[in-house]
Amino acid sequence: MNWLSPSILAADFNRLGEQIKCVRDCGAQALHFDVMDGLFVPSISFGMPVLASIRKETDMFLDVHLMIREPIRYINEFVESGANLITVHYEACSDVLQTVTAIRAAGVKVGISIRPETPVSVLRPFLNKIDLVLVMSVNPGFGGQKFMEGTYDKLRELRALMKETLGAERGEGIPRVEVDGGINLENVASVVEAGADTIVTGSAVFRGDIADNTKRFLEIISR
Ligand code: DX5
Ligand code: ZN
Repeated sequence: MNWLSPSILAADFNRLGEQIKCVRDCGAQALHFDVMDGLFVPSISFGMPVLASIRKETDMFLDVHLMIREPIRYINEFVESGANLITVHYEACSDVLQTVTAIRAAGVKVGISIRPETPVSVLRPFLNKIDLVLVMSVNPGFGGQKFMEGTYDKLRELRALMKETLGAERGEGIPRVEVDGGINLENVASVVEAGADTIVTGSAVFRGDIADNTKRFLEIISR
């Protein structure tokens, strides 16, 4: 099943609870939470207290994308604040295996993200240890950027690598494939076609009519 994971980075923080309820009631399967540290990426977003406040009010699957250096330092805090899945950047960890192992040991699902310039081949040793791969389709750090067309080939390469190393492209024990950055109603069908099953979208959901945008995305990705 394909999932929609709206990124609250593009929400109106003055009306956050109401906007989260709206995407949930429209059927979004997860909520994407972008954490930025001003070091791994230039910008700073939000952290544990905001996640904990959201957790108190919703039963949604909380998909936490850590764009921070050495995320292993904060795993337990994000788990205690309510994360269901923690995704770290391959490029931000001095020891990826240790970080992935620590996330699993903390009792939540684990993902690895790669920036646009990082090849999918770096994931080979980790594919049998993770629940999700996040392929960035923009340089991480800001919402509202343009989707990078090279992502389509990368998604196809990733599915082929999964088949080669895990024996299958999809199903039980095979990581989900998430895409993040510049996804809109025009390109989402092609992104799914190329191999993504978990769609992050910020501005294309939260700018304009949130309910209508969410329903349109869900209609396309569930075809
Ligand atoms: C970018 C973040 C994204 C961002 C996507 O660094 O990881 O999750 O919110 O926003 P849009 O969909 O506006 O590109
Ligand atoms: Zn993200």
